[in-house]
Amino acid sequence: MGLLEILPGTHDLAATAQAMMQAGKGILAMDESNPTCNRRFGKLGIPQTVDARRGWRELILMTPGLGEFISSAILYDETIRQAATDGTPFLALLAKAGILPGIKVDAGAKELAGHPGEKVTEGLDRLRERLAEYRQMGARFAKWRAVITMGKDIPSRGCLEANAHGLARYAALCQEAGIVPIVEPEVLMDGDHTLEQCAEVTEAALRMVFDQLYEQRVFLEGMILKPNMVLSGADCPVQADADKVADATVNVLLRAVPAAVPGVAFLSGGQSAELASLRLNAMNVRWRGKAPWALTFSFSRAIQQPAMEVWRGDASQVGAAQKVLYHRAMCNGMARRGEYQPDMRNA
Ligand code: G3H
Repeated sequence: MGLLEILPGTHDLAATAQAMMQAGKGILAMDESNPTCNRRFGKLGIPQTVDARRGWRELILMTPGLGEFISSAILYDETIRQAATDGTPFLALLAKAGILPGIKVDAGAKELAGHPGEKVTEGLDRLRERLAEYRQMGARFAKWRAVITMGKDIPSRGCLEANAHGLARYAALCQEAGIVPIVEPEVLMDGDHTLEQCAEVTEAALRMVFDQLYEQRVFLEGMILKPNMVLSGADCPVQADADKVADATVNVLLRAVPAAVPGVAFLSGGQSAELASLRLNAMNVRWRGKAPWALTFSFSRAIQQPAMEVWRGDASQVGAAQKVLYHRAMCNGMARRGEYQPDMRNA
């Protein structure tokens, strides 16, 4: 038994994790750091300013009906403190929509010393104090992303271990603070690796993560796993279809993820919005009743990007962009149920 299972509060952690995984819904990732958000804005000619970032997040949070398909939203430190133009705090907008608030707490992936081409995620310093502040503000869950790159002779064992250890230390601190940790080990899709190679690396990464979660006494019922889907590398000449991706992904999860974990919420990782929905849908069709965890989404780009391309910083496009955003959320809500149809593609 993990230490945290005998401490007070585990029931609340499990209840929050279950609420995040409710049927027909998923998690909206809108926790891009300022540099990442600015980079995406820059590509579309949107000003890279605090006000433009606030305006974009306001557009998202004021999208009518968003709570029909979104159970929870991951915010960034800047965003959790912001308010809409009429002064309503973003946290109040989320509460009104019935969406649980969460917060990204890692400090980003940095070069891992002695391991050229590999990264380790930083952010453990003062994490206990930062979590207490976010909990007091109302955050119910948190996110920490580790990045695993595939390439010649990588990932190394040292990289997998360092990242798994960081994720587990973060997760234990979250649970101590009454916050559900989203544990995100992302094997990047960059490269020319095959589906099978991605499966091998993803399984190794997940096994290492769950070993470390066990060592750090993390209460599995009170966490969410946010992995990559098992995909052919972006430059691989043979691209696996949605059914193959679905089977490879769930088979890896079955080997490495304990059934006590309530839910798996995938990142989109640079897939197109449509492919991400199709592949999630295939998992929920093919593995209905056979997978022990909920299989849902925690997408950023695969929900936001099509809407951002409509908005482009233009106030007259807010309504049109919100329709596209709602549509993508709906498509993924349907995929979560295994009811997504290709003709839902167009808003
Ligand atoms: O940490 C990554 C995000 O939360 C998910 O982003 O869906 O664009 O990969 P993505």
